[in-house]
Amino acid sequence: MPEFLNIGVFASGRGSNFRAILESIKSGKIRNARISVVISNNSLAGALQNARDNSIPAFHISRMQFNSEDDYTNAILNRLEEYKVNFIALAGYMKKIDNRIVRKFKNRMINIHPALLPKFGGEGMYGMHVHEAVIAAHETESGATVHLVDEEYDHGSVILQKKIDVAPEDTAESLAKKVLTVEHQIYPEVIRLFSEGKVVFKNGKTEILK
Ligand code: GRF
Repeated sequence: MPEFLNIGVFASGRGSNFRAILESIKSGKIRNARISVVISNNSLAGALQNARDNSIPAFHISRMQFNSEDDYTNAILNRLEEYKVNFIALAGYMKKIDNRIVRKFKNRMINIHPALLPKFGGEGMYGMHVHEAVIAAHETESGATVHLVDEEYDHGSVILQKKIDVAPEDTAESLAKKVLTVEHQIYPEVIRLFSEGKVVFKNGKTEILK
């Protein structure tokens, strides 16, 4: 049996991906994992409230609470250790993860991005900016990407992507809605695959075992 996943979810905003993951665990679609802790840099994040409503430990940890970057990173690492986190899912986390955390969770930290990476990724490409850029470029398709997190924004190896068609009448808002539906499908799916030991790494790339 693959290692049980004690997931640390990092979220800054409304937390719909966090909820999608939680629902998949509650419904038994993901069996070999639980969300052990939620961390947010935003005290008002929906994910923090939602976690607490579900009796999941949830912490607001922000750079402003500490004198140095190092103390801030240590506070996050301490919480991860306290809750025995062995896997991290970034779900709309708006702060760059310190390299010490990235290195410690190499191949064990994933992110979801609302476009087909490597297109429309990188610094500044978040939220509605992504969908606006896709519409402005007259793309005929977009989608969502789950990828490993490495030291650069939206750069780690792609694990799973799902495409959707961009209709001529789509706006950034309508596209965002369609993509979000896809996000809620593929993010829990990738976590299920990890929890079943079906994601493997070869020569810097990820592969999904059948
Ligand atoms: C999602 O669009 C995700 O792709 C991006 O941030 C957004 C988070 O949404 N990384 P939510 O907070 O999970 O609803």
